[in-house]
Amino acid sequence: MATPRILSGIKPTGKPHIGNYFGMMRPAIEWQDRGEAFYFIADYHALTTVRDPKSLREFSRGVALDFLACGLDPAKAVLFRQSDVPQVTELSWILSCVTPMPMLENCHAYKDHLANEKIPSHGLFAYPVLMAADILLYDSNVVPVGRDQKQHVEVTRDLAHKINALYGKILTVPEASILPETETIPGLDGRKMSKSYENTIELFPEEKALRKKIMSITTDSAAVEEPKEPATSSIVALYKLFASEADLRRMEDDFRAGGIGYGEFKKRLFEAVWAYFAPMRARREELARDPGEVDRVLKEGAQRAEAVAIITMQRIRHAIGLR
Ligand code: TRP
Repeated sequence: MATPRILSGIKPTGKPHIGNYFGMMRPAIEWQDRGEAFYFIADYHALTTVRDPKSLREFSRGVALDFLACGLDPAKAVLFRQSDVPQVTELSWILSCVTPMPMLENCHAYKDHLANEKIPSHGLFAYPVLMAADILLYDSNVVPVGRDQKQHVEVTRDLAHKINALYGKILTVPEASILPETETIPGLDGRKMSKSYENTIELFPEEKALRKKIMSITTDSAAVEEPKEPATSSIVALYKLFASEADLRRMEDDFRAGGIGYGEFKKRLFEAVWAYFAPMRARREELARDPGEVDRVLKEGAQRAEAVAIITMQRIRHAIGLR
């Protein structure tokens, strides 16, 4: 493969958190030097849960701002809003027509809904088809995603093979690049960090708010003097993401030795998180000073993305007999 096309998306359902950062944003930023990167804010996907127009708009801009602050370079990667290239919904329909229902009935978001006795919307059911359209519209080769999205990339590959078998080789079959860290990032309550559990730590809160969040991490009731187990502690698991090897080792040793309470360990975690994001916070403040900047980046990204989408859709429409 000469220059791989890399594509990934992030759903603007709130402010990006540490799980998003290590699971999607940081790997995406690393990939921007390794090929032609296309990253988008999946606002159509967010519609399965976000119902307030003002929030959706704010979250979308916020994700873009945070992404740029964290190091996404618009000179290298195309950053755009999914809904700015509405051709993706047309491709989604075309793919729907070759998607067997059982394939979607087997997908985890839908199954979770049923398991929780919630009524899934058709949008939630068809979510993986829209995601396949995202990936296939841009002839993507590599899709860096967390393990939870692997199934969706499998669906995408299946659908691409189906279309290619029916109409000739018109779609590029992508590969998932699975990011190992994403499984292990715990939230405040020890469960996987996720907006739906309300256990997240955002990337750019005020200092006091961040301190408060970190101090609220759930721990067992071991007393200060007791030895503590680092392997099962969320504090240690999070600290690992931010601290140097030496500092991590020191925390683990101090856990085992006893004599230090969880409050002290949380303070160390706070210091590490605050320091880690300091340069990005500065960059974010700088970006936020020019409110037009994010809009300009998104607009230019949309133009570059649409140029690719138009060509793919011409090819597809022609092959399937729409024109
Ligand atoms: N479903 C992804 C998530 O929830 C977001 C997403 C939408 C995506 N379309 C995509 C990721 C295409 C990769 C490629 O995280």
